[in-house]
Amino acid sequence: MASKLKVGVVGSGGVTRAFHMPGWAAVPDCEVAAACDSHRETAEKLAGDFKIPSVHTDYRDLVADPAIDIVDVCTPNQLHTEIVIAALEAGKNVLCEKPLATTTADIHRIGEAAAKAKGILMVAQNQRFTPAAVAIKRFLEERDLGEVYYARIHATRRNWMPARPGFIDPALSGGGPCMDIGVHALDLGLWLMNFPKAVRVSGRVHTNFAKGWDIPGGWGEWDRDLVGVEDFASGFIHFENGATMVLEASWLHHQKESQDFSAQIFGKNGSIHWPSGEYASVFNRALVDATVLPASGLQPSHTEEILAFAKAVRGSDPSPVPYTDSLKVIGILEGIYESSKQNREIALA
Ligand SMILES: NC(=O)c1ccc[n+]([C@@H]2O[C@H](COP(=O)([O-])OP(=O)(O)OC[C@H]3O[C@@H](n4cnc5c(N)ncnc54)[C@H](O)[C@@H]3O)[C@@H](O)[C@H]2O)c1
Repeated sequence: MASKLKVGVVGSGGVTRAFHMPGWAAVPDCEVAAACDSHRETAEKLAGDFKIPSVHTDYRDLVADPAIDIVDVCTPNQLHTEIVIAALEAGKNVLCEKPLATTTADIHRIGEAAAKAKGILMVAQNQRFTPAAVAIKRFLEERDLGEVYYARIHATRRNWMPARPGFIDPALSGGGPCMDIGVHALDLGLWLMNFPKAVRVSGRVHTNFAKGWDIPGGWGEWDRDLVGVEDFASGFIHFENGATMVLEASWLHHQKESQDFSAQIFGKNGSIHWPSGEYASVFNRALVDATVLPASGLQPSHTEEILAFAKAVRGSDPSPVPYTDSLKVIGILEGIYESSKQNREIALA
């Protein structure tokens, strides 16, 4: 076997520790060789716990290390762009947590760097690698829903308000539940729909509860003064082909469900619901329900995502989740914010 590919993680916090480290451990020909965090103790703790030999507090030092083949970007959202571009310009392969960036302008900058880069860039949309999503995508490859005319996208939580600054301080997060979890469900829905072109967006964002004390957060208290993002958003999206979509995203919301993470796609031949796999259709004027069962034999979604990325790096395959997909997802989310700000429908470029 060729020598192992060396990975440097930038951002040594929650997602790195809980999901990316187990993911890298599952790839036989990769090893995490460097940990970076602007908070030295966080990087040192990760390095100590996972036997990572090198520690940095400035991502530029990690990116400049010629021994590093892969940079795994797990910092708060607003720092992704500069780190991804620096890593691509240094010739690295890059895996970046969602959202790739919080504006289409930044994604265009990333795209320019990616076009000139020798490494590949993948966006870590792990929901695509869940057993339910894998099975539904396979099903739709063979069972056409017909003309898709509508989609219902939910990423709504009742009282799961993130407490860490990286999520609630707009300078770090670039948005609330839209950017945090809306990005997951919207990416999943658009991917199942084969990314139709969105042309107009109308939306509204609210900060209803996050600055107050009415709803107790399931993850503990957060700094009310730091909150500068929405806690609820809704959007109505028009596609060029005439289809429409409703999107809802929340961290705090009076709903019975603790969490509703779902995408339901309606076509003239049938509808499909993720993640339940529920399929509804009609045959010979008989109403038919069926269920697409989750794919078997898969590892946790972040691990499957990292395995797909490593395979693409080794095999020079195209990126399993290219930045061009994020451009479409973030274009819609950006449209929701802009529509809310301007109090009118927004035409997308
Ligand atoms: N796909 C998923 O399931 C999932 C889950 C959680 C978070 N995320 C994403 O992962 C990213 C990180 O989230 P998290 O939960 O790990 O947050 P976190 O706050 O736990 O960790 C972020 C870390 O980045 C460090 N950091 C901040 N600025 C830095 C810089 N300039 N250089 C290096 N390190 C820096 C912080 O000190 C912190 O330790 C976010 O983009 C988030 O949206 C994805």
